[in-house]
Amino acid sequence: MTARACANIALVKYWGKRDALLNLPAEGSLSLSLAGLLTETTVQFVEGLAADELILDGVTAKTGEAGRVSEFLDIVRSLSGVQINARVTSRNSFPTASGLASSASGFAALALAATQAAGLELDGKALSRLARRGSGSAARSIFGGFVRMYAGIRDEDAYAEPLASPLVDSVRMVVAVIGGGAPKSHGSRDAMDHTAATSPLYRGWLDTVPKDLATAEAALAAGDLEKLGTLAEANAFAMHASAIAARPSVMYWRPATLAVIAEIQGLRACGMAAWCTMDAGPHVKVLTTEADAPTIAMRLRDLEGVTAVTITGAGPAAIAVDPTDIVTLPPPPAAE
Ligand code: DP6
Repeated sequence: MTARACANIALVKYWGKRDALLNLPAEGSLSLSLAGLLTETTVQFVEGLAADELILDGVTAKTGEAGRVSEFLDIVRSLSGVQINARVTSRNSFPTASGLASSASGFAALALAATQAAGLELDGKALSRLARRGSGSAARSIFGGFVRMYAGIRDEDAYAEPLASPLVDSVRMVVAVIGGGAPKSHGSRDAMDHTAATSPLYRGWLDTVPKDLATAEAALAAGDLEKLGTLAEANAFAMHASAIAARPSVMYWRPATLAVIAEIQGLRACGMAAWCTMDAGPHVKVLTTEADAPTIAMRLRDLEGVTAVTITGAGPAAIAVDPTDIVTLPPPPAAE
């Protein structure tokens, strides 16, 4: 079975867990699924395979990388009763493990393809809970457009749901890739645990999230992009501040990250609709409108250290793909 899922970028970030085993987030989060960042994954349970196999962007993964996928497949096997190993073939339309949310689209596509291959039919909520076990942000990639993740109290309540907003058709994200999509220095999983364990600012970060979620939801309902963008940028700075203050520091930003932030602040001072957000990597994603996106993209392409710029909009929910309709994704840009 083959499934396709979009990556998503959080506007209110998930950064910290309250349960590592069930991968329960410490707080809720809110995101936008992006049409331009896609993962397509095929899962086949194969008799006689000695171990699960993962082929990622055409390359057979090493045991460590395949380990997280195998653990996830164990959950699917326990739900379905299927007892054999699987071959997983996955392609991304963007650089893997560079802070461009490949684990979000990756585990969302895997959750859908693997459950269908194992003969399970899960609804959106159950799929979202399952995808969360692979990666917290993947719970959101089950749905399209704007998505709200609930922290919940137990496993059953920690899932995502789509959020309607008049902004969904007109919103754009300009993705500025910095440093050619080289693998990130600290994986988000280890870095958020380290922040929670050592950062004196972690508590303050967590305390801001419920208020930020309420503000973001109100902005979405009212179709107020300025309010949403202002909030998203402030929320990203708060998350990064908590990580930067960890001991030792988790610093994702490169000089070009700051150059993009300064450029966006300058464009905003000239009246443009443009707000930054950054995840566990150096890249900057700019929330904007259809009208302003081309100018922003042109300005960011000129900055030193920015190696690729893409304009994208809201993407659809994860879907199972008919084998006759499988597209070949464009190869990801080469890492530098
Ligand atoms: C900065 O979902 O990758 O992108 O649950 O440990 O796999 P795990 O973490 P992951 O963390 C995402 C962190 C983030 C913010 C976000 O997407 O909300």
